[in-house]
Amino acid sequence: MHSLTHKAFITGASSGIGRALVSAFLAEGYQVSGIDRSPSVFEGEAAYQHHQLDITDSISLAALFEAADYAETNNVLLNCAGTREICSIADLTLAQWENVFALNVTASFVAGRAFCQELVKRQCPGNVVNMASVSGLMGEPDRTAYVASKHAVIGLTKQLALEYGKHLIRVNAIAPGVIRTPLTESYYHDATQLEKIQRGQFLPVLGETSDITGAALYLTSLQTRFVTGSTLVIDGGWTLGKDL
Ligand SMILES: NC(=O)c1ccc[n+]([C@@H]2O[C@H](COP(=O)([O-])OP(=O)(O)OC[C@H]3O[C@@H](n4cnc5c(N)ncnc54)[C@H](O)[C@@H]3O)[C@@H](O)[C@H]2O)c1
Repeated sequence: MHSLTHKAFITGASSGIGRALVSAFLAEGYQVSGIDRSPSVFEGEAAYQHHQLDITDSISLAALFEAADYAETNNVLLNCAGTREICSIADLTLAQWENVFALNVTASFVAGRAFCQELVKRQCPGNVVNMASVSGLMGEPDRTAYVASKHAVIGLTKQLALEYGKHLIRVNAIAPGVIRTPLTESYYHDATQLEKIQRGQFLPVLGETSDITGAALYLTSLQTRFVTGSTLVIDGGWTLGKDL
């Protein structure tokens, strides 16, 4: 029997960017533990294990990391599950605010700390990548909870990097611009919205999940062994400046 060398935990594994990450890490030879409240198309694949779980259940989420197997060469946690509201600040309820924070921030903290603590205990190497957003770098109308939560994800990334760096665990974030997934699919069926996206970017290219998977593999590889606490912006130039 082969010993476990490469292991990846991926939250939000059943859709969009998370689903593409599962595919990319399986292709790289990782054993993948997908975590999502929905079932996965990868269930049944030998190197894939699915945990159907609402990750705002902090106790079950932490327990999953305590019970897991870890690898000798590289362990990766990709905190990808996330949600957003689209509603005016006046209408934003406290329940909506708390729901966005529970998933985008608290679950990433709970998973990140539990994963890092297990690596420290077992003296295994590892990397965390948190899915932030361009909304973690600048404001956006009608997304108050989302914008605040993604700024918090970037803060959490720095803090985990600072606390666990001495154990050789690296923690970085990715800030995607608009990437075509079920979360953003409606934009592609609305000519005005699509034009807004194209005008807001400085590259005449639309973002795809493969733009993010390549970056996640890079940030968790030895090519970036001296990189921690950073946020890699992948947005076609969305945050470069404004078109006057
Ligand atoms: N798509 C984009 O344009 C874009 C841009 C910037 C950042 N992001 C970020 O990337 C991440 C993934 O986005 P996506 O577009 O792939 O979204 P998506 O909606 O396609 O996928 C999100 C996944 O998270 C899962 N999920 C939601 N709530 C959960 C919960 N409580 N417990 C367990 N699983 C839960 C869903 O079942 C789904 O499989 C999010 O953090 C999002 O904020 C996306």
